[in-house]
Amino acid sequence: MSRAPAIEAVDVRRSYDLGAEQVHALRGVSFTVSDGEYAAIIGPSGSGKSTLMHLLGCLDRPTSGTLRVDGRDVAALSDAELARLRNEAIGFVFQAFQLLSRSSALDNVALPLLYRGVPRAERRERAEAALRAVNLGHRLGHRPTQMSGGEQQRVAIARALVGEPRILLADEPTGNLDSRNGAEVMRILEELNAVSGVAVVLVTHDAEVAARARRQVRVRDGLVELDTAAANPAQEPVPDPARGGRVAAAGEERA
Ligand SMILES: Nc1ncnc2c1ncn2[C@@H]1O[C@H](COP(=O)(O)OP(=O)(O)O)[C@@H](O)[C@H]1O
Ligand SMILES: [Mg+2]
Repeated sequence: MSRAPAIEAVDVRRSYDLGAEQVHALRGVSFTVSDGEYAAIIGPSGSGKSTLMHLLGCLDRPTSGTLRVDGRDVAALSDAELARLRNEAIGFVFQAFQLLSRSSALDNVALPLLYRGVPRAERRERAEAALRAVNLGHRLGHRPTQMSGGEQQRVAIARALVGEPRILLADEPTGNLDSRNGAEVMRILEELNAVSGVAVVLVTHDAEVAARARRQVRVRDGLVELDTAAANPAQEPVPDPARGGRVAAAGEERA
């Protein structure tokens, strides 16, 4: 049996009800993310990027449409099931790091494993390995306030990946970093994607960061305006000269 895609969105909509007014943040978004992909979501401020990331990260549910994450239809899951899917399938990296300021790097990274019921010694071992993977093996006992922004974001990446998720989501991961630290964070994300095959979907305003991704998805006014994966000629049906240039229909045999 072939495995379901990491993410499958079909006509996903999300509206916010503000009493007198409805804000249609997403107005029918469809795309698929496969294992090992590396995609950048770009688009102007207010276009719906964060709304989309929250949906993909199972922090929220669509108003309508179908969203499958790791093969599970999120609309059919209870809050507890959704939390469990989030814990097991997804790692999330935020612009502002969102670390616990009074906890060490090691404890921050081990936290998702605590929620998962992993025993203490194993939590420590795996958190240490995750911190080494982001070149922070020498900062295990440091608290966030004792680290640079770049280091804090690397701790957040280790926390996102310690549970070996299928999908890593990052909303403006370099937004609070200077260019040198931003480049280091991007290098680490690219390396982790290449080594572990975790699918990476990130939102960015930075044209350089977006250009480095293998796939770009441009969002505008709550719709996907451009998806370079969909535009990839290798995936486009090829007109067949033997049929007068007619494109074979799906499932139709070539003569
Ligand atoms: N919790 C919310 N309540 C009401 N409106 C919201 C909420 N979150 C986002 N919006 C609105 O939805 C639209 C998309 O926002 P957002 O997804 O944050 O865009 P982006 O991340 O691309 O800047 C904006 O018009 C924004 O004001
Ligand atoms: Mg945003």
